[in-house]
Amino acid sequence: MKILSHLLIAFLLFSSCQNSNNQHSAQTNEFEHGAVVAAHPLASDVGVQILKEGGNAIDAAIAVQFALAVVYPNAGNIGGGGFMLYRSHDGNVDALDFREKAPEKSDKDMYLDADGNAITDLSLYGQLAAGVPGTVAGMVAAHEKYGSMDWKALVAPAIKLAKEGFQITSMQAAEFNKHQELFSKLNVDGAAIIRSEAWKEGDVFQQPELASTLERVANEGRDGFYKGETADHIVKEMQRGNGIMSKADLENYQAVWRKPVEGMYRGHRVISMPPPSSGGAALIALLQSVELYPLTDWGFQSDSAVRVIVEAERRVYADRATHMGDPDFHRVPMKELMDNDRNKARMKAINFAKATPSSEVLASKFAGYESEETTHYCIVDKEGNAVSLTTTLNGAYGAGVWVKGAGFLLNNEMDDFSVKPGVPNLYGLVGGKANAIAPNKRMLSSMTPTIVEKEGKLFMVVGTPGGSTIITSVFQTITNVIDYGMNAQESVSASRFHHQWLPDQIDVEDAAIKADTRKSLEQAGYKFHERGNIGRVENIIVLPNGKLQTGADPRGDDVARGY
Ligand code: GLY
Repeated sequence: MKILSHLLIAFLLFSSCQNSNNQHSAQTNEFEHGAVVAAHPLASDVGVQILKEGGNAIDAAIAVQFALAVVYPNAGNIGGGGFMLYRSHDGNVDALDFREKAPEKSDKDMYLDADGNAITDLSLYGQLAAGVPGTVAGMVAAHEKYGSMDWKALVAPAIKLAKEGFQITSMQAAEFNKHQELFSKLNVDGAAIIRSEAWKEGDVFQQPELASTLERVANEGRDGFYKGETADHIVKEMQRGNGIMSKADLENYQAVWRKPVEGMYRGHRVISMPPPSSGGAALIALLQSVELYPLTDWGFQSDSAVRVIVEAERRVYADRATHMGDPDFHRVPMKELMDNDRNKARMKAINFAKATPSSEVLASKFAGYESEETTHYCIVDKEGNAVSLTTTLNGAYGAGVWVKGAGFLLNNEMDDFSVKPGVPNLYGLVGGKANAIAPNKRMLSSMTPTIVEKEGKLFMVVGTPGGSTIITSVFQTITNVIDYGMNAQESVSASRFHHQWLPDQIDVEDAAIKADTRKSLEQAGYKFHERGNIGRVENIIVLPNGKLQTGADPRGDDVARGY
């Protein structure tokens, strides 16, 4: 009887949190053989087409990456970079770093004026904001190691979309219109996206220059981007503005295979991205920090759950700011950052009656954050191979510069470095020496492509855009599934909140955290900052019957497709 009444209470608590806190629709889809969840319906279609033609998850991921460069120019890219996490059907895991890097002529003070003040516009807009792009090298490396289909067949759908054009969605029309002034200012010689009349839903967007660049990539592989005509266009674009990227920078760019990071959460193995992304280590530290607390009993976005999560986030982001950077340039204390005992022990000091001010939380000492535009997609193929891939230009439309003659956007990833200690970047993140600019160094990222196993089997494939909020959105999606029993769609639709140490505030989506809970938290010293959407999470859950349950974030045009 007692057990039954506990179950009833748990059920009522869970149903009420589901009804009151999920701001978006939660219709979930299930597919038998393969699934792709991406930020644009046409990109998801391309991925499923490749899977149906017999391609594996890596083949589909390559085709989706190129398709997104055409149909989702705010973040899909060939002029940016990203991270791919892969798990084969038999459990082998691998991580591909195709993050941009600083050009050889870069310098730690390159965004400071004569008085040493940061000029952050320079790291955000125009040619000087761009890091050396990694996407094409990354896709070639992925294909060489794990691809099964002909390379040209994987680039072909993107070429067709660029050449023939595609009908834009209403969300895209609004986005394109919003950025016209900036595009006209930064692209004096024009670009396909710039036009005098307003864009509207259903207009066809054609990109002939991009189609030619993609044809070179299809025919010549990495040389089609890093050498020859495309490289010439990039270097000329640098000269048109104040850019410093050289032909040597392009030729020398290499994608790097890295060992994924992993940790356990309530019996699940969580596998994620190592540095130069802070995402994996920070995600694992967050999960370790909250694991001793009864989140399920407390309930979704309950007073106690929010306190514990925010206090964990505050501490983990303080460590991120101090200790994390490109591991090829700076020793990142990974073991210490993901030390289960340390992360649990320091949570013992939290005071449930009172917020800990961020000024009192210092990074641990060890011996020896737009538009937050990035995009994520998840793929599982018929054999159970899985890809979780986050790719970015950094801010929406990156540096705002289309490479004249080559038709693609340059990233503004240089802003992900700490341009000066303590000066916040686009996402309000601060950093120091570990993430200072140096030639050929990769800028610290928050991208967190993640795969979760349960009982040794593939369980979840998850990730999101959102700058500094990426880590906390992936964290909340995992707890939504594991602690709150949500399905894939509910887990991404549910409202979200975020804390990143500095600024000392809880960013909340409109529907996040009920009014009475907020009031009680405010009385304890927590400050709230209302903002728009946080992230656009995609999620695939493998059900016990082997079906693929999908969650596509309703905050955007995101769509799950499968067969
Ligand atoms: N550009 C966003 C990130 O890498 O975290």
